Amino acid sequence: MSYRIAPSILSADFARLGEEVRAVISAGADLIHFDVMDNHYVPNLSVGPLVCEAIRPHSSVPIDVHLMIKPVDRIVPDFAKAGANIISFHPEASEHIDRTIALIHECGCKAGLVFNPATPLAYLDHTLDKLDLVLLMSVNPGFGGQKFLPSVLPKIEEVRRRIDRAAQSSGREVWLEVDGGVKADNISSIAAAGADTFVAGSAVFGSGDYAGKIAGLRAGLPSE
Ligand code: DX5
Ligand code: ZN
Repeated sequence: MSYRIAPSILSADFARLGEEVRAVISAGADLIHFDVMDNHYVPNLSVGPLVCEAIRPHSSVPIDVHLMIKPVDRIVPDFAKAGANIISFHPEASEHIDRTIALIHECGCKAGLVFNPATPLAYLDHTLDKLDLVLLMSVNPGFGGQKFLPSVLPKIEEVRRRIDRAAQSSGREVWLEVDGGVKADNISSIAAAGADTFVAGSAVFGSGDYAGKIAGLRAGLPSE
């Protein structure tokens, strides 16, 4: 199993975003998690494709775009053009889930489906064979700095089982990412449940010592 740490720039200093992206990558980030909020699907407003395009030259790692917006499809090509590598969306926000996944692939990006704590995994029944990533929210989306909901742990286990079962026949790799309240003191239980990719906003950007914070998160993961 290989593990990835994806710092969420939602908690970065927006006045110095390019610098923050470079700093967190030198500190060991594997992905840049880019949270897009629309004050409609979630009660907060963040950044869009213009900002993604602006940070693209500063990022030597994939940009992992998490869309918390409704509708989804209109904006997908804009993010692809802005340099996104992975685009994930919430099933409740799409009028046609299969079409949105296909659109993301047509735009040359990897596609992820995001589950809120109360969103049933039934949405995976007919989509998992087309997905590159499953993103499980461990907080209700909209804000950084919330507390991890331990009730999500059995859900992570269930998704791990489904991904492993599907991989036996398809051989495809599907990442299992967890987002919200991930810290150095809970990352081992999240990894033990089956996650391989960890979003961390406040845990990384909360201090100046990004390398120390990322190393602290990695210390909680099994050695690869
Ligand atoms: C929440 C966002 C998260 C958030 C994580 O809606 O999707 O990516 O930035 O922040 P922390 O790690 O502080 O919970
Ligand atoms: Zn996110």
